[in-house]
Amino acid sequence: MAETPVLRLVDITKRFPGVLANDRVNFDLLPGEIHALLGENGAGKSTLVKIAYGFYQADSGEIHVHGKKVEIRSPRDARRLGIGLVFQGFTLIPAMTVAENVALFLAELPWLVRPKDLRKTIWEASQRYGLELDPATPVWQLSVGEQQKVELLKLLLAKARILIFDEPTKVLVPHEVENLFRVFASLREDGYSLVFITHKLREALTCADRITVMRQGRVVGTVRPEEASEESLLQMMFGERLVEVAKAGTGRVPGEPILELRNVCTKPIGTAPGLEDVNLTVRAGEIVGVAGVSGNGQRELGDAILGLLRITRGRKIFLGEDATHWPPRRLIQRGVAFVPEDPLAMAVVPWFTVLENLALLDPRRFSRLGGLALDWSGVRQLLRAGFAKLGLNPLPERARAGTLSGGNLQRLTLVRELNRPYHLVVGLYPTRGLDVRSANAVRQALLSAREEGKGVLLISEDLNELFSLSDRIVVMLKGRIVGEFRPEEADLTEVGRVMTGAGVVHA
Ligand SMILES: Nc1ncnc2c1ncn2[C@@H]1O[C@H](COP(=O)(O)OP(=O)(O)OP(=O)(O)O)[C@@H](O)[C@H]1O
Ligand SMILES: [Mg+2]
Repeated sequence: MAETPVLRLVDITKRFPGVLANDRVNFDLLPGEIHALLGENGAGKSTLVKIAYGFYQADSGEIHVHGKKVEIRSPRDARRLGIGLVFQGFTLIPAMTVAENVALFLAELPWLVRPKDLRKTIWEASQRYGLELDPATPVWQLSVGEQQKVELLKLLLAKARILIFDEPTKVLVPHEVENLFRVFASLREDGYSLVFITHKLREALTCADRITVMRQGRVVGTVRPEEASEESLLQMMFGERLVEVAKAGTGRVPGEPILELRNVCTKPIGTAPGLEDVNLTVRAGEIVGVAGVSGNGQRELGDAILGLLRITRGRKIFLGEDATHWPPRRLIQRGVAFVPEDPLAMAVVPWFTVLENLALLDPRRFSRLGGLALDWSGVRQLLRAGFAKLGLNPLPERARAGTLSGGNLQRLTLVRELNRPYHLVVGLYPTRGLDVRSANAVRQALLSAREEGKGVLLISEDLNELFSLSDRIVVMLKGRIVGEFRPEEADLTEVGRVMTGAGVVHA
């Protein structure tokens, strides 16, 4: 009864300088199945799917499509074989409409869709899979979730039958995730075969037909959800039991204010809202959570605190001083640690190595001979100590930051920011893209920061995370703070409602 897999990767090996990213990997995808790919940060998941898509070539191994051995030397080859990949970073052109973006993608394929049929085709495909896209909308107006739909649409119209998604749910809010899984299910009904990478075990257990787990470049095993549990998957991923994160203690009295925002306003930019009359205090020894659907002013809040966004009205007080118009440099030197939303765009220089990026954080601290030399061993020590403190394996020190896996990049930023003197840490989605163990390590680090009397501002979409860590939770909607809760008194649904504007609550 063995079905011929639509895609079979046989003994795939891929080496990068200093890393064996894929070590004799075997993976197969059956017709009409949803196959989840799990594994810790840096396990080799993205590398594997990029090989199937012709983005990288394997050093050795074979690829079979529908039982036939094939050569995939470029994404074009892959697309011709009906394989499509939705990358984490999208490849759309913001100024062009949905239809234009799709047309651009299809243009390189042999079966050209005539322009006048294109809108109709897009509309039909969107209807069929509940993608709800208007072909005439410019892409810059779309949310991340909608852009993802455009990427999927491109693949569908290009007649891809094997659809691969690299962490599709990483940037989606809960209702968008549900939506995506509904789309997955209807694609499966129509005979498409899907692979998706995720760090959320629940997603794999509820949505996949089979789950393959990778560790350090190898496949540990493939299981069916009904014979697996979160426990057993973690065991496969890490080979050890994980320590649970301590629950936030309640009833403690926070200390002096570290940061105060008083009626802070900023200008809206494009479709992003400005901050409107934001009042917020973070005290020593306190974790303040900021809940909200992303795009409701969270990034602006972080930027305004760090001095990247001009405050047009209101005051920002840092450690009792008026810091409203301080430049970022000064805030950082005075002790603001910042974990940005997109480390590649904001926090690291891609062509610098891991060590160089770390040194960059505070050149003065590491400079020797009056700035003519850097104390590399000091930097190296800091890196090792930082990872040890978080209980994580260290990163390859000489790897260029741009080649790090998504999660490793996030770890680098975290280690750098949490290992210098600071009073306040502002984290925008700090556990996004991290595997379960790293995410727990980061949560633990935030709790320790609080114990040490630091102020923590945690911006997250993960309500469970916010509830388990925060002393207080504020909710942002359209640039305003529209509610405040104590986790022990509120429930998730209530906060969820306020997040989507279904009810406004005042503390
Ligand atoms: N282009 C590259 N050059 C050098 N090393 C690379 C390159 N791409 C990936 N690597 C390395 O290969 C290893 C596997 O990376 P990969 O991106 O496949 O991991 P991943 O399982 O997708 O991790 P994550 O969950 O963090 O996204 C990592 O050590 C990474 O640094
Ligand atoms: Mg990856």
